[in-house]
Amino acid sequence: ASTLGAAAAQSGRYFGAAVAAGHLGESAYVTTWDREFNGVTAENEMKWGPIEPSRGSFNWGPADQIVNHAVSKGMKIRGHTLVWHAQLPGWVNGNMSAADLRSAMTNHINQVMGHYKGKIYAWDVVNEAFADGGAVGSLRSSVFTQKLGNGFIEEAFRAARAADPDVKLCYNDYNIDDANAAKTRGVYNMVRDFKARGVPIDCVGLQSHFGNPPSNYQQNIAQFAALGVDVQITELDVGGSGSAQADAYRRVTQACMAVSRCTGITVWGVTDKYSWRSGDTPLLFDGNYNKKPAYDAVLNALNGG
Ligand code: G3I
Repeated sequence: ASTLGAAAAQSGRYFGAAVAAGHLGESAYVTTWDREFNGVTAENEMKWGPIEPSRGSFNWGPADQIVNHAVSKGMKIRGHTLVWHAQLPGWVNGNMSAADLRSAMTNHINQVMGHYKGKIYAWDVVNEAFADGGAVGSLRSSVFTQKLGNGFIEEAFRAARAADPDVKLCYNDYNIDDANAAKTRGVYNMVRDFKARGVPIDCVGLQSHFGNPPSNYQQNIAQFAALGVDVQITELDVGGSGSAQADAYRRVTQACMAVSRCTGITVWGVTDKYSWRSGDTPLLFDGNYNKKPAYDAVLNALNGG
């Protein structure tokens, strides 16, 4: 196949991109998205701050723009993200009581999942809850751990399943790509524990913001999958350029293709010019929407090469 989405579809996978509503007026941006990708994640528009800026009042417009377009094209949509310590609205803060925060979190999950019911493939229910350093299993301190304790992750997943029993529920994080890293093992143990106790979880998202993927990346994907969850590569980008960048992209794509439960890949943007990694060129299309060597490497790998 000659596009990323069509090539991924040959094996039942999707190949998506993060998209920002603010760029939808740029025809080359939309043309490239539509031609090459059969999946999408809203880069910011579904996050708690942007979508519920004041309590109980929802700003659906920008996210709806992305979702409506994606639905009309038959794309797979990843919902990003329900519970995250960053990009929170100001009204979610440490002055709330535990009971109040719990009810705000549950209501947020119910409203947002309800609004997009039937349209979303998988939700990032909880994003980036694990700490970067420290002991295996340590969580990052946040308003959620401070008020609700470490059980907030389980609470969020249970609330999400109740809000919509028909959508896949994912835990999503960065630096959980190396099977041996303490952070990875913490997430692995959580998923194993959730599965053992019947806490609903269907998938793990490996964000994969790379310099270089670790050598055991495929093994890591396979280990998560062996717990009985799907794995998705959710925010892929690779710093650099040329053949080194292309080679890293090829290895990531081949790793996903090698594990049947790795169901799709999303790159974190359409074009280098709008990447969050400013000053770098980490994506598959340059600032003029030309295909880069990394594009050819990914397409070839999706086609089985
Ligand atoms: O939209 C406002 C605008 O109204 C305001 O004037 C301007 C002033 O700062 O800010 C704009 O919001 C910015 C937003 O992107 C939209 O451009 C925020 O400041 C900026 O912080 C935000 O950055 C996003 C970042 O998440 C926030 O943490 C990036 O676009 C987005 O790519 C990035 O995505 C995250 C994933 O969600 C989770 N994993 C890591 C990944 C990369 O950091």
